[in-house]
Amino acid sequence: MKLSKILVIGGAGYVGSHFCLLASNSDIRVTVMDNLSKGHRSALRCSEFVQADLLDYEALLTHLSHNRYDMIFHFAASCLVGESVQDPALYYRNNLLAAFNMAEAMRHSGHDRIVFSSSCAVYGYPQRLPIDENHPKNPISPYGRTKLAIEWMLEDYNVAYGIRSAQLRYFNAAGCEPDFGLGEDHRPESHLIPNVVKFALNLSDGLTIFGTDYPTPDGTCVRDYIHVTDLADAHIKASEKLDELPLIRLNLGTGHGFSNMEIVDGVRRIAGVNISPEFGPRRPGDPAELVADALMAKKTLDWTPTRSDLDSMVAEVIRWFSFNPKGYSN
Ligand SMILES: NC(=O)c1ccc[n+]([C@@H]2O[C@H](COP(=O)([O-])OP(=O)(O)OC[C@H]3O[C@@H](n4cnc5c(N)ncnc54)[C@H](O)[C@@H]3O)[C@@H](O)[C@H]2O)c1
Repeated sequence: MKLSKILVIGGAGYVGSHFCLLASNSDIRVTVMDNLSKGHRSALRCSEFVQADLLDYEALLTHLSHNRYDMIFHFAASCLVGESVQDPALYYRNNLLAAFNMAEAMRHSGHDRIVFSSSCAVYGYPQRLPIDENHPKNPISPYGRTKLAIEWMLEDYNVAYGIRSAQLRYFNAAGCEPDFGLGEDHRPESHLIPNVVKFALNLSDGLTIFGTDYPTPDGTCVRDYIHVTDLADAHIKASEKLDELPLIRLNLGTGHGFSNMEIVDGVRRIAGVNISPEFGPRRPGDPAELVADALMAKKTLDWTPTRSDLDSMVAEVIRWFSFNPKGYSN
């Protein structure tokens, strides 16, 4: 199905706003629903904005009953792994209950297609690398468990109620679209690239690399960084594929990992400044290496990441923070 009218939940956030930019530029009419708890009004790239909370089931059902969308893209979530360990109730409420509300409102309003932002956190500690979709799912944080529970819920909703879903397990989203005024501005920021860039540009007081004794070439953690616009492109392709396949589960990554120190070195090289991070102990629950086997996504969606070159992603983030030293001004 060629998309013409879609609802993007969480479209004021980092990944969602980049997705809305791509969708709007592809002549798709985009409505964003977001409670702005973490997102930014100035990151909105849509023709209509509805400020609403997924936890308000009646508002959600009313909106879906009065509007007809070809597809729902569900980016909204709480996304801090450490916070999920300290306050699991927040995650079961804002991720699992919110997604349940979404699925119920879809069911009772006759909407039957959803693309859901899952995460490589569903796998837990890797038993083999790279991680393919059949790798055992043993999430080690409440965040990862809510993502897996939502995947299962959507599978059950497909069997019983015919709701089709694409469940996309992102590895580390990175990069941005500075030429279109979009960047990465989580508060607090837990992602490495923006944190290293902010430190390099003197926009933050400190930078700590956690763990230097991992069994990786330089002892620091290795992660797979995928450009947000490559993620966005995969969302469009996955939604189109739902005509053929009622349930899609795919890893979205590049299949190549970079260590924390390689990121620091990349920023040092591209920004042209010296960076001296502090080194701290390992953080609990941080696997040494998380790298996707993304072959299935490439094959199923006929998708290839074209924007995920590390130097380009780092350069974009430097450019965005150079123009927006305080991030988004809402
Ligand atoms: N950023 C990554 O590297 C990454 C990796 C794996 C998975 N993911 C998943 O991708 C999705 C998007 O991540 P992000 O980095 O853009 O996060 P984000 O925090 O930037 O965006 C989430 C958006 O959802 C909104 N939101 C949260 N709870 C809501 C609610 N109850 N009702 C309405 N709106 C609500 C927030 O205001 C925000 O705009 C999340 O589901 C996340 O778990 C992200």
